[in-house]
Amino acid sequence: MYLDPDYAAKIKVSQARVTAGSTDAALLQAAGKFPTAVWLDRIAAIDGARATGGAMGLVDHLDAALVQQRAISGTGALKPLAITLVVYDLPDRDCAAFASNGELSSAQNGMSLYKTQYIDRIAEIVARPAYAGLRVVAVIEPDSYPNMLTNVGNGKPACDAVDAKKVYVEGIQYTLNKLSGVKNVAMYLDIAHSGWLGWNDNRAKAIAGFKTLIQGATTSGRLDIVRGFASNTANYTPLDEPFFNSFDDTIVDSGRTTQFYQWNRVVDELSYVDTLRKEFVAAGFPQSLSFIVDTSRNGWGGAKRPTAAAADVDDMRIDRRAHRGNWCNVKDTGIGERPRANPDNSRPHLDAFVFVKPPGDSDGTSDTSANTPNAEGKRYDEMCGTKTGDALTGAPHAGQWFHDQFMMLLRNAYPALK
Ligand code: BGC
Repeated sequence: MYLDPDYAAKIKVSQARVTAGSTDAALLQAAGKFPTAVWLDRIAAIDGARATGGAMGLVDHLDAALVQQRAISGTGALKPLAITLVVYDLPDRDCAAFASNGELSSAQNGMSLYKTQYIDRIAEIVARPAYAGLRVVAVIEPDSYPNMLTNVGNGKPACDAVDAKKVYVEGIQYTLNKLSGVKNVAMYLDIAHSGWLGWNDNRAKAIAGFKTLIQGATTSGRLDIVRGFASNTANYTPLDEPFFNSFDDTIVDSGRTTQFYQWNRVVDELSYVDTLRKEFVAAGFPQSLSFIVDTSRNGWGGAKRPTAAAADVDDMRIDRRAHRGNWCNVKDTGIGERPRANPDNSRPHLDAFVFVKPPGDSDGTSDTSANTPNAEGKRYDEMCGTKTGDALTGAPHAGQWFHDQFMMLLRNAYPALK
């Protein structure tokens, strides 16, 4: 998997803030081996600004990936190397929250800009013959379509508007269509996480909704244009709750020991992908349908991690959020399983653990006064404030480096960092 040199530069910023030779310094050293995804979160991210000392652009990243591929292969035949790109610039993006609203507005020609200035350019670059030997993993538009499934008609006017105008559907179908023409790109559509779409009714909506979405993307109507789905992007839901199982009514019923699961029978991401896989295949998706899971912040290690089963589920769940819907710079979290392909022999449909959201990148600003969207469309969302009781304070805008969060994630890593 590709090691992003720009990420290494962010780690350096943190290195300058810790004592040389300390435990923290050793953790930062280990973090240098994390493969992370590259977020194309605005049109300007395609070109980057390397010439003027700014971020690498898409061509820079792909060229660096080729160099890394050559280096790991030695003088022998080229070994496979995967580089993960996050396609994230839909018009009216992130309709249910404010923290990561984007630069494009459907009311201001955003759809045309998305197609011609963003998707067409990405498709042209990744299709260049020089990059044919790279495995390009594309995570398609985190959050957007899941918002169409659950946040329409739910007191979120921005979601009602994108639904009425079919903004996300048109944008995503365009992306699927374009990238399906590039042989070495494997697309994974974002499918939120078990704490969002895990309920039986939400899963049923998701399966029907994604099927229609994908079928409508090409004239062939084929469902195998996507490799599968990406779960838990930028989220904190654990892979596995070690002390109890999904679909256990004594755990999930609100009337029993906890309010935490609210009758959502899918308590963790492995159960989520296993269940979804079965249900998607039953709905006509191919057997090859596969999943990747973002494990960048779902480890839940550290001193507060429960170590044994307990009578009350609240005393044994490793997910220690106050509410499963809390998504912003969550306290007491740690990085999870390190990125790797085919991590579980018993789950052939699990392609990889991936650090989709780079650990240390903020989820949103905690500054309550940041109410005017900045140049990238970012602003304060109350989920990043003190309301939830779960969000760290002192957080910069989404995507910016958050040293305190990074150190917390490293210290609470599970498995622990060596
Ligand atoms: C931000 C993006 C950023 C990404 C990765 C998102 O929350 O909105 O701008 O690229 O996180 O850090």
